[in-house]
Amino acid sequence: MIVSSVLEVRRRLDSIRREGKSIALVPTMGALHAGHARLISSAREQSDCVVVSIFVNPLQFGPNEDYQRYPRPMEKDVELCNALGVELIFAPEVGDMYSGPQLSFVEVPRLTQNLCGAFRPGHFRGVATVVLKLFNIIQPGSAFFGEKDYQQLCVIRRMVQDFNLALTIVPVPTFREPDGLALSSRNVYLNPDQRAIAPVLFRALNLAKELVDAGERNSEKVKAEPLRLLQSASGVRVEYFEIVDDEVQPVATISGPVRIASAIWIGKTRLIDNVPAR
Ligand code: PAJ
Repeated sequence: MIVSSVLEVRRRLDSIRREGKSIALVPTMGALHAGHARLISSAREQSDCVVVSIFVNPLQFGPNEDYQRYPRPMEKDVELCNALGVELIFAPEVGDMYSGPQLSFVEVPRLTQNLCGAFRPGHFRGVATVVLKLFNIIQPGSAFFGEKDYQQLCVIRRMVQDFNLALTIVPVPTFREPDGLALSSRNVYLNPDQRAIAPVLFRALNLAKELVDAGERNSEKVKAEPLRLLQSASGVRVEYFEIVDDEVQPVATISGPVRIASAIWIGKTRLIDNVPAR
């Protein structure tokens, strides 16, 4: 069932809650793929009622980003949700989510000063703000987020901790194509040549991980060879390649668990990915 009004979704979920059922939320921007399906299936296994929100959130897009051309294949998305046993799709209009101009925002500055946050000013403020709105509208007992967007996961977890939000954040590992490319709604922008080059991102991250696993502790040394690999790939521009701790701060020396994270451009398409190490 699709519900687009905020009032209506609250009303329906109130009655589900009265029945004592557990509610899980999977927030998405639609253009659903097998990565989203993993989140939905995990939610399905762990709760009575799965809500998938589909909302391309204007607040998290920069002025020169792809808000207008972001894919919106609503019918296909609804079919996938139905096939996966989703109880409720919440697909609000922009004017209902932002009924007046939004004047309040959630910011997690320390966690958003590096990686994507450094290149997409205001992005995570837009993400955290819309996710808090979704949490307040749906009031789920759990919400599912992909590790694919590692910095986003860190920001949401921290927001939940800092504001004592009464729900559990469940991380789900990145789902990949057989050649390693992480599934993303933006992969449809890649032409066949670019698609053939794209797995270099995961290869570079794995190369770095192998060096860490082999005992290298100096981040600069870990980054050198993967960076060369990316820079030698045709049409690839590296935005960042970083090794960070769980507060998304770059580490010079690897002494505990880290994330190796990178963003690259292939033509006009931006791809991100990350792997854990140690
Ligand atoms: P979207 O890009 O649609 O992603 C929705 C969720 O799916 C996110 O938690 C993301 O990490 C997860 N996801 C995407 N690709 C994945 C993959 N290959 N494997 C595993 N999980 C994957 O992220 C957003 O939307 C938005 O920022 C949102 C949180 C909905 C707020 O607007």
